[in-house]
Amino acid sequence: MTDFSTPALQAENLVRFYDEGPARIEVLNDVSLTVARGEMVAIVGASGSGKSTLLHILGLLDVPNSGSVRVDGQLATGLGEAKKSALRNRSLGFVYQFHHLLPEFSALDNVAMPLIVRRENRDRARLAAREVLGMVGLAAREGHFPGQLSGGERQRVALARALVTRPACVLADEPTGNLDRHTAHQMFELLTQLNRESGTAFAIVTHDPELAARAGRQLLMENGRLVSGG
Ligand SMILES: Nc1ncnc2c1ncn2[C@@H]1O[C@H](COP(=O)(O)OP(=O)(O)OP(=O)(O)O)[C@@H](O)[C@H]1O
Ligand SMILES: [Mg+2]
Repeated sequence: MTDFSTPALQAENLVRFYDEGPARIEVLNDVSLTVARGEMVAIVGASGSGKSTLLHILGLLDVPNSGSVRVDGQLATGLGEAKKSALRNRSLGFVYQFHHLLPEFSALDNVAMPLIVRRENRDRARLAAREVLGMVGLAAREGHFPGQLSGGERQRVALARALVTRPACVLADEPTGNLDRHTAHQMFELLTQLNRESGTAFAIVTHDPELAARAGRQLLMENGRLVSGG
């Protein structure tokens, strides 16, 4: 049962530091934020301000030194690896600057992969993959391998792969970072369209202020702190 008042993501008082000898490098300093169901937020800030670290912690790929993360209402902090990866697979999708597609699999099978990992029936996984490939405008390219696709097309395949499980939230780290300006804007347009149509929340790290301005809300990171928008 889905409770529509449950936030897609909720982080409280996140602290992340690295000890290097006697020196402590503070990367996140008491960061709290909520991403509502279906919301689209942009995370901006200078290089080194802690954006990727925050995204990794929200995505349960890294663990904070203190503080808590809830994904789709479920407390993730303190869960064992198996439960954490089940929660990640069920409720989160990821898009990176470089798409990380598997070169020896077709676009369709790349998109179906998160469902196959989940041990869903292969035919049903392919059917669901076909549907989201259609949503990103690549129905005609399903049999192509990553090497046969353009940069923008690969990035759209990666976006379809992030959406195929119908996650509560997609986390994207510079998803348009290696695309030319025109393609980056098209990709962002697609992100906002999918956000509206699918009801999936998006948290997107971007360096491009024009793109960030198109999100519903902007979170600004400065030296490991969220200085506005949280
Ligand atoms: N494993 C680590 N050990 C020590 N310091 C680290 C480690 N990982 C990250 N940092 C430091 O944490 C800070 C924040 O890094 P992070 O990757 O989150 O920045 P960012 O805002 O994503 O930057 P960019 O815009 O360049 O991607 C940086 O100063 C970085 O050097
Ligand atoms: Mg980064």
